[in-house]
Amino acid sequence: MKYFYFLFAVIFIACNEKPREQKTESNVTRERHRPLIHFTPPAHWMNDPNGLVKFNDEYHLFYQHYPDNTVWGPMHWGHATSTDLVHWTHKPIALYPDSLGYIFSGSAVIDTGNTAGFGKNAMIAIFTHHDSAGEKAGRKTFQNQGIAYSTDGGNTWTKYEKNPVLKNPGIRDFRDPKVSWHTPSKKWIMTLATLDRITFYSSTDLKTWTKESEFGKNVGAHGGVWECPDLFPLYYNGTEVWVLIVSINPGGPNGGSGTQYFTGQFDGHEFTSYDTTVKWIDYGPDDYAGVTFFNTGNRKIFLGWMSNWQYANVVPTEKWRSAMTVPRDLALEKVGDKYYVTSAPSKELNNLESLQGTITNNKFKLSGAAALRITADTIESFSIILSNDSAQKVVVGYDKNANQYYIDRTQSGRISFEKGFASRSVAPRLSTAGKMNMALIIDVASVEMFADNGLTVMTGIFFPDKDFTEVTIDTNSKMDITSLNFGNLKPAF
Ligand code: FRU
Repeated sequence: MKYFYFLFAVIFIACNEKPREQKTESNVTRERHRPLIHFTPPAHWMNDPNGLVKFNDEYHLFYQHYPDNTVWGPMHWGHATSTDLVHWTHKPIALYPDSLGYIFSGSAVIDTGNTAGFGKNAMIAIFTHHDSAGEKAGRKTFQNQGIAYSTDGGNTWTKYEKNPVLKNPGIRDFRDPKVSWHTPSKKWIMTLATLDRITFYSSTDLKTWTKESEFGKNVGAHGGVWECPDLFPLYYNGTEVWVLIVSINPGGPNGGSGTQYFTGQFDGHEFTSYDTTVKWIDYGPDDYAGVTFFNTGNRKIFLGWMSNWQYANVVPTEKWRSAMTVPRDLALEKVGDKYYVTSAPSKELNNLESLQGTITNNKFKLSGAAALRITADTIESFSIILSNDSAQKVVVGYDKNANQYYIDRTQSGRISFEKGFASRSVAPRLSTAGKMNMALIIDVASVEMFADNGLTVMTGIFFPDKDFTEVTIDTNSKMDITSLNFGNLKPAF
């Protein structure tokens, strides 16, 4: 009866129904598996988001990019801008490889105080120069940190003529600088991945760096090399808690690459972790190298690379490879005496107006991208099945016996390109609440699951032969669903 009731509680947004367009706004025929609401490069290879920064009401997304092929190669920084984190405009490539090497991952800041002397409000990129010839020659010091600046809001870039600004002391993996301004000590802090730990450096001018401390050699997950860190404070009922994000490859929670984090304190010199629990920003297989935007105040907006090094180079897309996750707002939650980072789809996603959502029995018609939200007063095992008429499917759900959420893509269509791809990934339910809520962001080739206000998050990509057109909700009759909302989303591109 409850179930019957909630069907009527579904909000139908009956707006002018349009067939799903096969053309983008720029009139290019849509490519198979090309997402409708997730950022993808115009063509060829993309990996990590880089230099995420807000400047003059515009968000800048730079990214690891190889513009000449669909597989990883000499790295450039691709560039796109957006005023709402959802609709992105492609810009010319910002940084090209040079005599010091490829341009690996890094960050960007706005130098409001002109500390570097490139001009007030210069946008400054801090990145790793990766000297592939040095690597091949067997040298250990082939990764060094360099900077570049833009005085026209990110349109054109000049590399600093005295690069590198931070030389490699003899550590093979020495990369991915994330720089932020530490107000109490009036210093720039660089958080750097150094093989199996994080090393913090400080600077007053972004050009001269002093080592402050190290963290992590004996804490956290160590199944692979540490990469792409981020460090920032979040607030829990007014209490400041510092979050240190560290991506790791391999050794992720479901194989391949993954992103762990620590909660603790940072005093401008040292990071101290509150506990030694291994925690993951996202338990799914496809959220890697994610970091937050600079210059967004206390709001922390996170974007990850929606792939996994285990198969990123061989996923079955033709003209481009990889997408970013949707933007996510990070916050803190406490479970017992431990802090956890929660992720929620950023409110700007509401800019993608819903198209018609129709339901027959317990099925929704999916036309491309959609958002699904469920709240329940009790939690039982349930599954949400995305499927097409070729019997291909992805199942997202909760297994009460195991107290785990999961994404099962074992029958998702194209799975044979890599032996581990056809997986069932699991994540612990961290919440101990009796009530449950879940948001799913569904696109042509991905699903992002945010359970219990984003305490457990999972992201998975998939490649069906034909787009999924149906979403079926299969619940145990004991589960007391209190609301269910489904809306197809208008393509962002
Ligand atoms: C992470 C990473 C970084 C590196 C970049 C190279 O995915 O391996 O550590 O800077 O990709 O493209």
